[in-house]
Amino acid sequence: MNNFLETVSYIKKQVKDIPKIAIILGSGLGSLADEIENKITISYKDIPNFPISTVPGHKGELIFGTLNKVPLIAMNGRFHYYEGYDLKETTYPIRIFKLLGVETLILTNAAGGINLNFEKGDLMIIEDQLSFFAESVLRGPNLDEFGERFIDMSNVYTKEYIEILKPIMKRITGKCLTGVYAYMKGPTYETPAEIRALRVMGADAVGMSTVPEAVVARHSGIKCIGITCITNMAAGIYNEELSHEDVKNTALKVENNFKQVIKELVKEIG
Ligand code: HPA
Repeated sequence: MNNFLETVSYIKKQVKDIPKIAIILGSGLGSLADEIENKITISYKDIPNFPISTVPGHKGELIFGTLNKVPLIAMNGRFHYYEGYDLKETTYPIRIFKLLGVETLILTNAAGGINLNFEKGDLMIIEDQLSFFAESVLRGPNLDEFGERFIDMSNVYTKEYIEILKPIMKRITGKCLTGVYAYMKGPTYETPAEIRALRVMGADAVGMSTVPEAVVARHSGIKCIGITCITNMAAGIYNEELSHEDVKNTALKVENNFKQVIKELVKEIG
């Protein structure tokens, strides 16, 4: 607990009023940070006990400010298991958010589309998640200060927020797609066989983040809402190779819609 408290005390010294909403910006979606006003930016490397992001295209800063006049904290750059952190480290910031008083977490990510009705560039509201192939981030002694040992996962993503988001999506993107996000550990993209298996299991999109963060958020009672940018169709669907370059390029193409959706969402829930 001491580590957590040291981190919180450092942040509270830099920021007087702590927002109740936090957002994690996924691969290629970091430019939302430019729209934040009245910013206080803290680099991860300056925050005691904070991990440091290693993925190209992920910046590594915590931004406090307002978006569409709504106070929020943005994590520009997140931590992934494939970078070599253990799962507890990847979700360290979520527990810090809890201790700072955050009540709502907006999770965003880039993912491969598994649902054959999806296209590259679509935005999907996350309705539920799958994570059969990874250990639970809550494995080990329970941190009773945050939540109970056994956690109900019936509503990882808050229904009320999903309903708020649907008409916003429709208005801005012309579509309202919802689906199940499947978590894979990475850093390899999946094989075509894995994608076929995930489809049979009910997945609509696949990515390498978000699930550990959502689990830790739910453990401590933070409400979640998730938006996925379908940056590519998953392996084997088209006869094309997957690359991080492509993922980033697609994310860039949809960033205006993405930003608009987030701005309206925070206005509604803020
Ligand atoms: N698979 C896993 N993670 C991803 C993908 C994918 O196809 N695209 C973007 N992130």
